[in-house]
Amino acid sequence: MEEKIYIRKVGVMETALRDAHQSLLATRMTTPDILDISNVLDNIGFWSLEVWGGATFDSCLRFLKEDPWERLRRIRKAYKNSRLQMLLRGQNLVGYRHYADDVVEKFVSLSADNGIDVFRIFDSLNDFRNIRKAVEIAKKKKKAVEGTICYTTSPVHTNELFLDMAVELEEMGSDTIAIKDMAGLLSPSNAYDLVAMIKKKVGIPIHIHSHSTCGFASMSLLKAVEAGADIIDTAISSLAGGTSHPPTESMVFTLQEMGYDLDLDHEKLKEAADYFRKVRKKYAAFESEYTSINTDMIVTQVPGGMMSNLASQLKEQNALDKMDEVLYEVPQVREDFGFPPLVTPSSQIVGTQAALNVITGEKYKVITSETKNYLKGYYGKPPAEVNKEVQKKVLGDEEVITVRPADLLEPELNKDLGAIKENILSDEDLITYVLFPKIAEDFFKDRKEGKLPDYSNAESENTFLRSISQNQSENITGGLADGKDGGLAPSEFNVTVHGETYKIKIAGVGHKSDQKRPFFINVDGIMEEIVIESLTEIVPSAGGEIVGENIARSKRPSPKRDGDVYAPMPGKISKIMVKIDDSVKAGDTILIVEAMKMENEIHTPIDGIVKDIYIKEGDNVNPDETLIYVEVCNA
Ligand code: CO
Repeated sequence: MEEKIYIRKVGVMETALRDAHQSLLATRMTTPDILDISNVLDNIGFWSLEVWGGATFDSCLRFLKEDPWERLRRIRKAYKNSRLQMLLRGQNLVGYRHYADDVVEKFVSLSADNGIDVFRIFDSLNDFRNIRKAVEIAKKKKKAVEGTICYTTSPVHTNELFLDMAVELEEMGSDTIAIKDMAGLLSPSNAYDLVAMIKKKVGIPIHIHSHSTCGFASMSLLKAVEAGADIIDTAISSLAGGTSHPPTESMVFTLQEMGYDLDLDHEKLKEAADYFRKVRKKYAAFESEYTSINTDMIVTQVPGGMMSNLASQLKEQNALDKMDEVLYEVPQVREDFGFPPLVTPSSQIVGTQAALNVITGEKYKVITSETKNYLKGYYGKPPAEVNKEVQKKVLGDEEVITVRPADLLEPELNKDLGAIKENILSDEDLITYVLFPKIAEDFFKDRKEGKLPDYSNAESENTFLRSISQNQSENITGGLADGKDGGLAPSEFNVTVHGETYKIKIAGVGHKSDQKRPFFINVDGIMEEIVIESLTEIVPSAGGEIVGENIARSKRPSPKRDGDVYAPMPGKISKIMVKIDDSVKAGDTILIVEAMKMENEIHTPIDGIVKDIYIKEGDNVNPDETLIYVEVCNA
């Protein structure tokens, strides 16, 4: 019998169970749909299956009302032959802020214990101080570490810079290196050059992750393999292409035909493709119309997926003229910020700030607290110098930190849990709670009351999916706020980046008289539970009508006086720290408002005495209301 001579082995990671549905179906695939195909997927011969992390953790809890840990355990049980891989955002884990080291340690340990074999670990700024802790713990648990380079294009992101990163990742103890091209910007020619360059200096396998967003990825994977790449990421054909990945079957066939050694079973691949074709139909309601290829980037330098959804929202508001401005603004903000790669969470920080700059008509007049924290160094070291003028305007005299951000964080796991404690039944629950406190609380409550959806029952599953897709579309209707010249500008819209949709809501733009103080608006990565009633009550809809009239109008006065304290965004009062007749100093925190799942400190603008308190804890408030009045002290 003739012995076939291969060039060399190439591994394939299948992304159907994580990135593909995150990129195409808003991360809504439920656990039964992941498990029902296990006897096929588990026996195809993939190098690994990506099954967890990224946005799946959040989505499980928030939308699907599933326990993400339980999902992982069930996957582990069903996929006995496969290497299970997850995506981890370094010190951000599967959330959107930096967590303390004790949280990182516990999270990574539990992920390993519950079934993860390979940890792909990245930092959105490629500041590797932010991945060291996670790498250390994964290694301690004897699991494979895939140190990750976030690929992007900018004047500072040269192949030499990426090579230095690869060397550092190898030295750090990575078992493989991932080149993570989340926006699909890696061109075939540069894929070849970059991989060839790294291969010369680095001994560990190179794993390429590239989205088909700009139409390059299939070609780039091929060139990367020719240059020596060892593992590629693909998606089964029925979940492939566009903002997802190149199709598994075609890539496997092509590479086999060219003489590479890939032992994957084509019969089983077809079976899996047929299965996911059916599954995809079930989630059609979650499929945005912007998941196809978008080559705009070749001209605009802005990833297509990032702006397409914003474009449609602006169009609906007859404000498409603003789109060009926003498109022009994104690279400018990115440059001001020192060219961060556009990946969670830096993508939404940049995208949101660019939109704010355009809509308010003045650069950095309104800033998000994420922008402020970013420029303070709280996300790590940007790839290049930030614009000093912008930094000064945003921070004033506040200091910039240069240490690893997590060094400033107190341990988080030993905090007093209060009443929630009785609902926390395991270490996994505790981590879930620390990561997403508000959603976890609701989840635990539903679990206790037996109200979690039953996905093993097809009928109730369908009903539930329908209800969450309806909620979603209702929440996406745009409201309008006063624009810069009395015209109406969109106040709510979505920005989709790498398959994650961020809802952006501008709530504090109305106070034009308040020139001195910048507004701080919190924009969460994912906002499904925002308080919409309080905003719609004061905001005319596109036709100029007042919407939400059935909601009682607030009796609180509008903020006009110097000592009127108000929230720059709609939210819920979670804490009042003063009482009548207390004396306060300008800048004191007197209130905490929970908005968009973040706790925001509200400060008093002047020195004085607390004269009126118009709110109590638990009240929903909006930006056009005075919450507390501080009277000037005339000493
Ligand atoms: Co991806």
